[in-house]
Amino acid sequence: MKVNIILSPNNVDDLYYTAKTTVVIDVLRATSVILKAFDSGAKEVVPVGSIDFAMKFSVNAHGGQTLLCGERNTQMIEGFDLGNSPAEYTEDKIGGKTIILFTTNGSKAIVKAKYSKRVYIASFNNLSKMAEHLIHCDTDIEIITSGAHGVFCLEDTICAGALVKKMKELKSDLELNDVTNASLVLNEKFGHDINKMMRECEHGVLLKENGLESDIEFCSTIDNIPLIPYFIGGEIKLLVEENKPNNEI
Ligand code: MLT
Repeated sequence: MKVNIILSPNNVDDLYYTAKTTVVIDVLRATSVILKAFDSGAKEVVPVGSIDFAMKFSVNAHGGQTLLCGERNTQMIEGFDLGNSPAEYTEDKIGGKTIILFTTNGSKAIVKAKYSKRVYIASFNNLSKMAEHLIHCDTDIEIITSGAHGVFCLEDTICAGALVKKMKELKSDLELNDVTNASLVLNEKFGHDINKMMRECEHGVLLKENGLESDIEFCSTIDNIPLIPYFIGGEIKLLVEENKPNNEI
């Protein structure tokens, strides 16, 4: 079982993911928000690659039970219903709804992986649950760190390293490569205090400057939402345990 990490979605083209099992990480904040949305009872999340498409999609999709959500420069987009702060995604607001999500990096990274055999959504919030499931899948894994505007970011790479560390604890003979080993080293250095790391990384500093510091509390919490969201046919849904076959879904 090989594990590879793609440090920027721009490093490979969409077809690279064909028939592969992929995990997308954007801890500040897209994949953390997706976990929160499902924890608050969202029906599904539709990640999109542009604001225009989000607007068009919302008009005629899902019988009006849709919410337009997401950010531009960390702030809520004009005309949208919600921004990209986990705290906004409460049951009363989003329970049973379809979330159409546009974000600068995370939603685009998910859409870019659409040709994968399976795309899973990970953050620190579902770290152990995701590690268990990937080992259960027993297949080669591509981890995409969403990064920032196509460039490497620290927080996603450390989350990838933390995920690989958990997987290694479950299966010691994982086949790793230089980039995966480098992410383990970064996690060794910064993983003991995720909250501090997030406050000091570039995107964390930007969130603080934009008055969104409280989001870091939620996004740096480990294993508080043991759920497995996965992307299928343009929508992200929740993996339901009893539907999980002997091997990968
Ligand atoms: C992203 O996709 O880049 C992030 O989620 C942006 C953010 O929420 O600040």
